[in-house]
Amino acid sequence: MPIWLLVIVIVFGSILGFVFLWLTVAKIIRKLWRFPAPSYTGWFLDSGFRRTFQPPEKVIARSDINPGMKVLEIGCGSGAYTTFVARAVGGKGRVYALDIQPKMLRQLAAKLSKPENQDITNIKLIQASAYELPFEDSTLDLVCMVSVLYEIPDRHRALLEAHRVLKPSGILAVTEFFPDPDYPLRSTLVKQVTGAGFVDAKVLGNFWNYTARFIKPKESICL
Ligand SMILES: C[S@@+](CC[C@H](N)C(=O)[O-])C[C@H]1O[C@@H](n2cnc3c(N)ncnc32)[C@H](O)[C@@H]1O
Repeated sequence: MPIWLLVIVIVFGSILGFVFLWLTVAKIIRKLWRFPAPSYTGWFLDSGFRRTFQPPEKVIARSDINPGMKVLEIGCGSGAYTTFVARAVGGKGRVYALDIQPKMLRQLAAKLSKPENQDITNIKLIQASAYELPFEDSTLDLVCMVSVLYEIPDRHRALLEAHRVLKPSGILAVTEFFPDPDYPLRSTLVKQVTGAGFVDAKVLGNFWNYTARFIKPKESICL
């Protein structure tokens, strides 16, 4: 084997080995210990590099976010998708960007203060937990979560809250990305969300990067 080919094999092999090891170790740690993504990861979450693998246009189309909607983004973090959602719902819509960590919301506020985002006036930042959403029953058109649900220790409780605040026929859209240490298989996610009273599951995308969309039924039973 020529030396240059050997070098390429060693370099690519080492990178793949490192990524595999990181994912395995991170996934094991996260099974044992759940905590919100540290705020210092905000710069990476909101990077163009990350969005090349998880494009906002796809997340928005798969989530069925449309003009005029009242959308709650749970676990908005540093706002990697929030500005895109705000532009998708437009001037007649509203985005409630909610996160448990004030430091994440501060990063989003700084992003919104930049000149290129001065056209956005329809986002409200809210510091709260997914367990206690500060909304009346049946008031929102859509609730979305990107790489959030499996970071929350009591997912069933969070889903029941999302169900409560959605209008009948409202949409819950959950987006997941394989490299996230908390990534769930599609079948696991669908079972969990339908177990909280949502129906009509539609999973769009692929194994690597998907959005699962659900509906709150018109006639809901109390769970
Ligand atoms: C991995 S980050 C993803 C952030 C953003 N959705 C994105 O895709 O860039 C998960 C976010 O969920 C938030 N989070 C975790 N548990 C939460 C909870 N119980 N209630 C509200 N937000 C929570 C974290 O603070 C963090 O900002």
